[in-house]
Amino acid sequence: MSDEAHLEHYIERAAKILRAARAPLFLSGAGISAESGIPTFRGTEGLWKNYRPEDLATPAAFQRDPALVWDWYNWRKRLVAEKQPNPAHHAAARLAATLPNLMTVTQNVDGFHALAGLAGILEMHGNIYRTRCPSCGDIAENRGDIFADTPCAACGKPGLRPDIVWFGEAIPAAVLQRIYERLNVCDAILVVGTSGSVYPAAGFAVEVRRREGHVIEINVDENHRPYANDIYLRGAAGAILPRIADLV
Ligand code: OAD
Repeated sequence: MSDEAHLEHYIERAAKILRAARAPLFLSGAGISAESGIPTFRGTEGLWKNYRPEDLATPAAFQRDPALVWDWYNWRKRLVAEKQPNPAHHAAARLAATLPNLMTVTQNVDGFHALAGLAGILEMHGNIYRTRCPSCGDIAENRGDIFADTPCAACGKPGLRPDIVWFGEAIPAAVLQRIYERLNVCDAILVVGTSGSVYPAAGFAVEVRRREGHVIEINVDENHRPYANDIYLRGAAGAILPRIADLV
């Protein structure tokens, strides 16, 4: 079988599994936005090659130097604002429209899934366009640049932080509870563009596999060694996900 025939065969199988699944789950990571021009975190071009997470994405880093942290997030906000969702995001929205029982979860903070028309996606790591006020707890949409002294629109105090889950912080309990309720019954998970290095998201496929559900993964990683029963679709999300959405 040629590589293309092999891929087509597994794309068809993946579509069939998702169509038949009672409680499917979709999980995306930074790789799904790579074709939009948003850098991923790991890998040769990844953000964590040039920046250290402990300087920028921890509560201690923000306490130490909020101006530096906001510089970085303002830069990333501008980067996202210049880019658009790609065919993979549009395909994910089509998939969700075709499969009303699909729960959709992303680790990405760029908001591209919603922009592509996917309603109700759980953004488990937050959203880059939202701020949270440590004084009054207000969460607000804030698309422009934020500075260490920008006052909270609700209480007027400075100290706004990005509404993003940093290293060492917990995912909001209500979000995590919904995901685990689904994982308890999940019979098929589709994992797109994540290195599987950050928990708890990295454990979702493990949990589905443990319950003998199907694991379908799309990733460009050539070194990835899939588990025996997994369907591993090697390639760009923007090329593969639309083909699955066409068949479901
Ligand atoms: P990573 O940067 O760790 O992984 C991106 C994955 O996408 C890698 O496995 C790549 O091989 C794959 N990839 C790259 N381009 C792709 C493409 N066009 N199509 C398909 N796959 C592609 O990103 P995440 O796994 O999302 O946390 O990282 C998890 C978390 O770590 C992020 O949410 C972030 C980070 O620190 C926070 O910011 C809280």
